[in-house]
Amino acid sequence: MPHAIRFHQVGGPEVLQWESVEVGMPAAGEVQVEHRAIGLNFIDTYHRTGLYPVPLPSGIGLEGAGVVSAVGEGVTDLVPGDRIAYAGGPIGAYAEVRNMPADRLVKLPHGISFDQGAAMMLQGLTAQYLLRRTYRVQPGDTILIHAAAGGVGLIVCQWAKALGATVIGTVGSDEKAALARAHGCDHPIVYTREEFAERVREVTGGEGVAVVYDSIGKDTFMDSLACLRPMGMMVLFGAASGPVPPVDLGILAKMGSLFLTRPTLFTYSAKRADLVAMADELFEVVGADRVKIEVNQRYALRDAAQAHVDLEARRTTGSTILVP
Ligand SMILES: NC(=O)c1ccc[n+]([C@@H]2O[C@H](COP(=O)([O-])OP(=O)(O)OC[C@H]3O[C@@H](n4cnc5c(N)ncnc54)[C@H](OP(=O)(O)O)[C@@H]3O)[C@@H](O)[C@H]2O)c1
Repeated sequence: MPHAIRFHQVGGPEVLQWESVEVGMPAAGEVQVEHRAIGLNFIDTYHRTGLYPVPLPSGIGLEGAGVVSAVGEGVTDLVPGDRIAYAGGPIGAYAEVRNMPADRLVKLPHGISFDQGAAMMLQGLTAQYLLRRTYRVQPGDTILIHAAAGGVGLIVCQWAKALGATVIGTVGSDEKAALARAHGCDHPIVYTREEFAERVREVTGGEGVAVVYDSIGKDTFMDSLACLRPMGMMVLFGAASGPVPPVDLGILAKMGSLFLTRPTLFTYSAKRADLVAMADELFEVVGADRVKIEVNQRYALRDAAQAHVDLEARRTTGSTILVP
C-alpha cells in the first residue's frame, strides 16, 4: 500500500505520522498522480497547528509534481504518463500517490524538472499574483518584501527586479542578506537587528515604498504600514509570526490614505483560466532564466516533521521539497 503523512490532532511537528493509505481509482473528473516531489510551504504549518482549521484526521500539503498514472471518467486532456504539477487543494499532497481533480493540474513544460515544479507552483504562483495583480509593479517602483530569502521571498526579489523595481527586503541573518542580494534584492535589511521602517525611510529618501508584501503578520504589520508612501498598498499575505490582531481602520487614513488587502492564492487561481494564465507566466519567467527556483533543502517525505521543525525555526532558505 502507498504511504502518506497524516495527522489526527493539531499540534507540533510530532503529530505528523507516516501511514499506509488506500488510494482508490480516480473518480469522474479526477486523475491519479504518482508524486515525484512535493512542495513544503508555510501554510502546511498553519494547517498542522490549527491556525487554519481542517477536519481531522487529515492529510497535509498543497503542492506536488509527478506523473499521471490513471485517469477517471470524463478526463479528456490528460493521459497516463503526462508530467503535471499543482498548487492548491484538496489538502493531502504529502503522499506517494493520490487522486486530484484534473482541472487543478497543469502540464509541466519540458525543461522544468519535477523538483522545480514541486518547489515553485505555490510560491511562484503567489509571486505572480502579488507582483502582477494585487499591486502591479511598474519599472521605477520601490517595493518592500519581508522574508526576502525565503521561498516566496527569493522568487519575488528576482521577479520584481526583472520588472524594473528597486527591491528592499527584510531577512533574519547576514547569510540570508547575502542570499537575497544575490537574487535581486538591492537593499537587504536584517530586521532582527535593525529597525526596518527607519531603514526603508532612509533608502527611499523619506518617501516610502509603493507596496509592502508582508507575510510575517503580527511582528511587522504596524511598522510595514509606516514604510508606505501616501496611497501606498499594504499587502498582508501571511502570518509567519502569528496573526495580526484587530486593527482600527482609521490608521489607514492617518498614515496617508493607505490601501490594505489580505489576499490568498486560492482566490486568485480559483478559475481554471486564471490558473493556466498564471502558470504560463511563471513558466515563462523561469524558462527564460529571469527567475531561478532555488531548491535549498530536500527531505525524504517520511521526514516531513523534521522539515516543519526547520521551516518554523527559520533555518530554511529558498524552497524545500519532500521526496517520496
Ligand atoms: N496568501 C497567500 O496566497 C500565500 C501563499 C504562499 C505563501 N504565503 C505566506 O508567505 C509566507 C512565506 O511562505 P514560504 O512558504 O515561502 O515560507 P518561507 O518564507 O520560506 O519561511 C518563512 C520565513 O518567515 C520568516 N519569519 C519571520 N518571523 C518568523 C517566525 N516568527 N517564525 C517563523 N518564520 C518567521 C523567516 O525568515 P527570516 O529568518 O528571514 O525572517 C522564515 O524563513 C508565509 O507567511 C506564508 O503563509 C501566503
